[in-house]
This record gives sequence, C-alpha cells and structure tokens, in this order.
Amino acid sequence: MFIKSLKLKNFRNYCDLDLDFNSKKILIIGKNAQGKTNLLEAVYYLSALDSIRAKSDSELIKWGEEFCNIKAEIKKFDIDIDLEININPPNRKKLKVNGLNKNKSSEFISNISAVCFTVNDLLLLRGAPEDRRKWLNNAISQIFPAYIERLNKYNKIKTQKNNYLKDLKGNINADTSMLDIWNEQLAITGSNLIFIRLNFLHELQKIAAEKHKQISNTENLSVFYNSSIIGDINCSEKFPYNNEYILENFKQKLEEKKPEEIIRAQSVVGAHRDDVSFYINDNDAKKFASQGQQRTIVLSLKLAELELIKEKIHTNAILLLDDVLAELDDLRQNFLLDAIGDETQTIITSVDTLHFKEEYLKNVEIFEIKDNTVFKTNF
Ligand SMILES: Nc1ncnc2c1ncn2[C@@H]1O[C@H](COP(=O)(O)OP(=O)(O)O)[C@@H](O)[C@H]1O
Ligand SMILES: [Mg+2]
Repeated sequence: MFIKSLKLKNFRNYCDLDLDFNSKKILIIGKNAQGKTNLLEAVYYLSALDSIRAKSDSELIKWGEEFCNIKAEIKKFDIDIDLEININPPNRKKLKVNGLNKNKSSEFISNISAVCFTVNDLLLLRGAPEDRRKWLNNAISQIFPAYIERLNKYNKIKTQKNNYLKDLKGNINADTSMLDIWNEQLAITGSNLIFIRLNFLHELQKIAAEKHKQISNTENLSVFYNSSIIGDINCSEKFPYNNEYILENFKQKLEEKKPEEIIRAQSVVGAHRDDVSFYINDNDAKKFASQGQQRTIVLSLKLAELELIKEKIHTNAILLLDDVLAELDDLRQNFLLDAIGDETQTIITSVDTLHFKEEYLKNVEIFEIKDNTVFKTNF
C-alpha cells in the first residue's frame, strides 16, 4: 500500500497543508522544529488512531484552534481509499472512509498499516513500561484492527472500576458487589488482550531474532511478556495454554488483590500493568546490553513488524523513519535500507541529505520544510 496524498488542517504547526506523494521513497528535509515529525505523526495517526508522542488528541490541534483534520488518499491492492479524521474535542472524533462515517475504529484503521521508527524508539528498552505497552498495542492493531476496540473497551472498564474504587475510600468492609462485576468484565476483556499479545509476540520474536542474529552475527534475542497475571512468559515458544487459562488466572489474581486494590484505590494488576522485556543470550538487555546492542534490538523489532504485517495482510505497510538514520552506524543503516526493499513506501525525515548514498537520493522524492511551508525540491 502507499499514501498518495496528505492534507492537514490545523494539525500541529500546519494551518493548511496539501501534499502529493508520487514516489515510494520520500525524504523530508528540514531544520529542527520545522514540523518533520508532525508530518509523520499525522500519517501514523491514520494507522493507529494514536499519536506517536501526544498523550491526548487535543495536543494535535494547532494552538488557538478548536479542531483539526487529517485527510489522506491511500492506494491498497490497486484500490483508492479516502480517509478522513476530524478531531474536535470534547466531541468524539469523526472517522470517514470514502466519505462514509465509521463508528468503529477498527473499520478505519484496517485501511492503512504503518510502522514508525523514531529516535525515541531507540530508548524503548530503557523507557517506561507504558512506552513498551504503547508500542505493543499499536503494533498489534496494524495487523489485527479489532484489537483496538478490545483495548478501548478494557480501558473503559478499568476507568469505571478505578472510579468505583475511589468511591469506596479504602473501606474494605464496604459492599463490594459492584467491584465484582467490574472485575469479571475486566478479566474477560483483559485475558483476551493478553492472549492476543502473547501470540503476536511469539510471531514477532521469531522474525526479530532472525534479524538480530543477521546484524550481530552471534547473538540470540528472546522476548518475554511480563504479566502481572500469569508471570513471565518466554515468547520464543508458542504459549501452551488457551484464553480460558488466562481468564481463570485473571479472576483469581483480582480476587487475591481485592483488599490491596480497595486500600490503594487503583487497579494494581491486569493487562494495563504488563510489560515486555528483551534478552540477549539469556541476559536482560535492559541491564546488560550496550547502546549498540539495544539499537540492534529495536531495529530488529521494527523490521520484524514490517515483515509480519506483510505476511498477515499481504501488502507492505508504510514505513516512517523519523530522524533515526543519523542515529545508526553504517552497519545498521545499511542493514535497514537494504531490508526495506523497493516495494515498501518509506517516508524518511532528516535534517540533511548527508546520511544517504547518492544512489538512494537519485530515486527519492524530496520535500523541504521551512517556515511552516513544505515544498518539493531536488537533491
Ligand atoms: N499543537 C501545536 N500547535 C502549533 N504548533 C505546534 C503544536 N505542537 C507542536 N508545534 C510546533 O511544531 C514544531 C515542532 O515540530 P516537529 O515536527 O517536532 O519538528 P521537527 O521534527 O522538524 O524537529 C515546533 O515549532 C512546535 O512549536
Ligand atoms: Mg522531529
């Protein structure tokens, strides 16, 4: 698939932007704070309905304005698809596919898949568990769009449960029958999220470990899912149990943690507390891996995401590389550029063209951003 055009209205620093893309290889050049990342953020938002960096949708709206709009034309399996998002808080965001309103997020994001690799991703291992969950959730929704609805449902139930816990004011002798109802629903939706995550990570880890070995020559990468419900799961092996197993454990864990949750007035276990960790030759990479090794892990993961999407949805995702080439050494840079291939539409942002071989620059469409305007330029 590829993106043919992008129109932004009041999105971040863009008032009115209208871009046509005529190539599979696109380069966006500009000094710092010109709006390069903002552009990629808009494209990625179409694919995940989640920002790569904003905590809330309102941050995406140009300061002083009330709404923003992202429009794009996608070509997928030779079919043109028009996508449109309107963000106008506190109203629910409006999603349109080919002019028709879509109430379900999955019916929107199923039209476009993207993999985004930013400088921030290089810190994935050392970052907060929240960052790794965000990565995992967004990566899954590129392949399995219905996941997004299940996740939203889970988060809604969790919020309601937390509000209820706050109302209990730490009183463990209160009537907790409502809590049991929230817990039951949380366990049903949450166990399914965990089950999907385990299957996804198993498939991703197979490909990522292969890539990691190719780059490093000798190292074995393994991925663990660290669950507050079922403990640490090695994703190198296929998860041997079914959803039911996780559900039973989920319910049991919630029952066990009930007094603590009431006293602390928060949900202390569940899919929203789980994490992912990475091991190189059986050593925890967060603690022991060098910066270079950590970069290799993240690069391997991103390439694995791309490959898994291709395998599952039978077309290439759009790859967004934000400033990341400058951060990789020659070996990793070349590995990345070679691995992408001709068919994957790639939008790369960079301060300059220094990191690109002349050969690469010959075939790219280059845009330059300056003073809030984007114009086509030549190398
Ligand atoms: N909601 C917003 N409204 C207007 N401008 C914004 C908004 N959010 C960020 N910006 C501006 O966008 C610019 C940063 O854009 P960014 O895409 O991160 O730059 P780059 O990637 O080129 O370094 C900054 O000038 C910042 O002030
Ligand atoms: Mg940037």
